[in-house]
Amino acid sequence: MAENSENKKNENAFGDEEKNDSIFDIHSASLREQPLPEEGNERGPWWMYVIIVLTLAFGFFYMGRYLGEVSDRAHVLFTAPPGAEAVEEVEFDLIAEGQRIYTRVCQACHQANGEGISGVFPTLAGAEWVVDKPDYTVLSILNGLRGELVRERATYDGVMPQFGSQLDDQDIAAVVSYIRTSFGNDAGEIQPERVTQIRELTADKSGAYTAETIEEWIARIEPDLEESPEPAED
Ligand code: HEC
Repeated sequence: MAENSENKKNENAFGDEEKNDSIFDIHSASLREQPLPEEGNERGPWWMYVIIVLTLAFGFFYMGRYLGEVSDRAHVLFTAPPGAEAVEEVEFDLIAEGQRIYTRVCQACHQANGEGISGVFPTLAGAEWVVDKPDYTVLSILNGLRGELVRERATYDGVMPQFGSQLDDQDIAAVVSYIRTSFGNDAGEIQPERVTQIRELTADKSGAYTAETIEEWIARIEPDLEESPEPAED
């Protein structure tokens, strides 16, 4: 009220308030103000920290309790469930796998029907070597085959690449089993163990076989090869 009556005194003839320009008066208002607190670094309220810690603790407890077992066993196929007596090997269909490999790897040359192309790619259908000598077929796949081949219907002088580095023993057993039982061929399966033995016994051989060297190698390894394990009968 005191200020008001003072202001009244300063009214001029027209009733306007006369401005008081003293520098102290102009700044007095800002001098009265407290400096504003700086923003951005305030501490949060204590209960916020408590909530964060409790939420994390609950989350870890929950995951630990309900997430299940995080283990790589999920990726191990064909293992027995816990408690089972013995791990029984799931029967592997050699022929079906062999057909897949044949289509992917061999068919381009030996053709889908196994007949090959006369004079270029030998036939595997009814081929005596394929049927009577599984080891011959395994060797030619492992290291490849080149040079002259004289066969019933034609003579060949081509190059078959080696597949020993891209096909493992099971693949080779599968594809040999497939061609021995397809295209009208009526021979049996051969087992991967046989291929493993042959691969070990011919580990020294480098480069492709020829019609002569493949016979020599077969004669060399034959005594060391165990009797071909018969496919399990059940
Ligand atoms: C790039 C073409 C090519 C591919 C792929 C190929 N072969 Fe051959 N294969 C040949 C040629 C060529 C010969 C004959 C080699 C020679 O003239 O000495 C041959 C020979 C053979 C023989 C011997 C036949 C005989 O009468 O003595 C067998 C068995 C055989 N191949 C199986 C296979 C199998 C199984 C595959 C797949 C894993 C395969 N080949 C992939 C080209 C090929």
